[in-house]
Amino acid sequence: MTMKFDAPAGDNVIDRQRVVGHPVDRIDGPLKVCGLAPYAYEQNEAAPNAAYGWIVGSPIATGRISSIDTRAAEAAPGVLGVITAANAGPLKKSDSNTAALLAGPKVEHYDQAVALVVAETFEQARDAARLVQVDYATAKGRFDLAAARDHARASPPGFDGPAATSVGDFDAAFANAAVKVDEVYTTPDQSHMMMEPHASIAAWEGERLTLWTSNQMVAWGVRDMAATLGMAKENIRLVSPYIGGGFGAKLWVRADAVLAAVAARKLGRAVKVALARPQIVNNTVHRPATIQRVRIGADKDGLIDAIAHESWSGDLPGGSAETAAQQTRLLYRGENRMTAHYLTELDLPEGNAMRAPGEAVGLLALEVAMDELAEKLGLDPVELRIRNDVQFDPEKGPSRPFSSRKFVECLRVGAERFHWSRRNPVPGEQRDGRWLVGMGVASAFRNNLVMPSAARASADAKGVVTIETDMTDIGTGSYTIIAQTAAEVMGVPLDKVRVRLGDSLFPQSSGSGGQWGGNSSTAGVYAACMALRSALAQKAGFNATDADFADGYLVSGNRRVRIGEAAGAEGVTVEGKMDYGRLTKTYAQATFGAHFCEVGVDALTGEVRIRRQGGAFAAGRIINPKSARSQVIGAMTMGAGAALMEELIVDKRFGYFVTRDLAEYHVPVHADIPDQDVIFIDELDDKSSVMKAKGVGELGICGAGAAVANAIYNATGIRLRDYPMTVDKLIEKLPTV
Ligand code: MOS
Repeated sequence: MTMKFDAPAGDNVIDRQRVVGHPVDRIDGPLKVCGLAPYAYEQNEAAPNAAYGWIVGSPIATGRISSIDTRAAEAAPGVLGVITAANAGPLKKSDSNTAALLAGPKVEHYDQAVALVVAETFEQARDAARLVQVDYATAKGRFDLAAARDHARASPPGFDGPAATSVGDFDAAFANAAVKVDEVYTTPDQSHMMMEPHASIAAWEGERLTLWTSNQMVAWGVRDMAATLGMAKENIRLVSPYIGGGFGAKLWVRADAVLAAVAARKLGRAVKVALARPQIVNNTVHRPATIQRVRIGADKDGLIDAIAHESWSGDLPGGSAETAAQQTRLLYRGENRMTAHYLTELDLPEGNAMRAPGEAVGLLALEVAMDELAEKLGLDPVELRIRNDVQFDPEKGPSRPFSSRKFVECLRVGAERFHWSRRNPVPGEQRDGRWLVGMGVASAFRNNLVMPSAARASADAKGVVTIETDMTDIGTGSYTIIAQTAAEVMGVPLDKVRVRLGDSLFPQSSGSGGQWGGNSSTAGVYAACMALRSALAQKAGFNATDADFADGYLVSGNRRVRIGEAAGAEGVTVEGKMDYGRLTKTYAQATFGAHFCEVGVDALTGEVRIRRQGGAFAAGRIINPKSARSQVIGAMTMGAGAALMEELIVDKRFGYFVTRDLAEYHVPVHADIPDQDVIFIDELDDKSSVMKAKGVGELGICGAGAAVANAIYNATGIRLRDYPMTVDKLIEKLPTV
């Protein structure tokens, strides 16, 4: 049964909030902490006796392979075979990949796979990989965004918007504005650095491939594997029940999956391939660096009349832009506005989506520009943002209101909880011993996307409800919120719900991406459970529409029947799907928040220590406050990393990312963020879905880093516009003590 969500949700069973809305512990938690949840590389029971593959990556960024000699590798101990473009058979590049997943003869980027060595043991494969002799003809590549920027062109339309927008007359309005900011901000290439590397095991039975892989989007993975291998989707089963983080790096299948499949077919044996940490950075995808120009013109009261945001980024030929101006289309008022994304060709590894693609780096620029504007106006930066709130899409006008927008509440409540009033507006005046102390604020904004999502729901004679969907849990808590949704709709306790995820044998879900997964997948489960209610009611001889489901019973009038009894010995199984109509067009849908940060900057060394991070967020119904808070504090931590340390340093001579492990690519650890406070504003968004929820997985990173940057300014009076804000950039500007 397919439900179509094309009118605002009325009262529904989710509003009972007996299970939904509660801070339930993760139902998969015990499995994970006991090490019993099998991740892709650990599916040894499902795929016994797998051989080990090791990827040989290209040491050049661009050029051609002139010859490959695999004889020495093939003769090495334990080696079962070596896969190269010469013997892999035809591999088509799927639309999701910008570069081929196996190079040859053309090389498109550094560490692009040129061979897979397969052996009995991991060590044998890795050792023999050194014996693969590859000769290259190196070509000249383009590796410098700033230098290539002049060749940039308007980018192709992005995932959720056009390349450029323009309303009113920005140039004239900006020229006439009483107070103006016009600055350029830069953000570096970044790496997802999720805990679990890309990993796959492939096994064939005749024409049928089973792929256990760490992947956020099961159905996309099946589609792309089918396209790459030239086979029918029906012959591919993709299994991805547990994922150790993805952040966008695992939206699409990568070389590990394709090469494991090719090798397993060739050798007639299961093959497992994982990328080593240093390989991930250059072999897979990253968030592209940006150069962003932001111009804002306001009147003396701080009301914005002109706002422009342009962003330049690079990617391999055929790639896409980092859509950093996205939020500027919707966040603040202003009659005259323009945004543009420009794309230039670079021969660095493939750029792609990383947690909140667009907004995460766009707000690093926009929200510092807002801080600069507040300072010029002599206006509190919280107040400036409140004054520029707009309750409709400012590009389209009042005819397109927001589905819900509690942005001002976030700023007010967040400021109150953070004791913002204690901030000294004059920069560089607050001392605590050797530390210069300051506070910063920044807005949080991320689009809310919804995706069709389906699920299978069944009830058995014991009254146990089982949900099956190809939805993934990338550490976000999908298992738990899906169980909560099923328990709520079916009126059963949580321990009567089983959830099975991440298998292409199950109905196709939204998958995990773009912070749409939580809201969309639970809406699909709602549809499936409503279908299950109808089926059970019918079986028990109830009128489906007036039967209530509570405490494990179907109830109607004075009749009560246990769910297990209604299901009977044979049980009941149904499928349901949620589809979406035009509400995403009629209404602007987005999530909001306000970030606050207090830092101490060592007046002598320039070392920045975060003292506190706080935030208030509005993202519709919060299905599980505990897992949602985890999403937000994790994302705020990632935002702090973007502000202070994360950077893929480009070797501009050879075209690769130098910082390829966690010793060199720094991410924050617990000790870096001593205190985080997160609050959710009460909100139900009846235009977003039947859950009245919105996305919350990416919102927390959006703006978090800008609050850190603004706090550094308040502490020191030093305005940096080049991320990350490392000691070397601060120390030369520090006031002499
Ligand atoms: Mo996300 S960057 O769509 O996982």
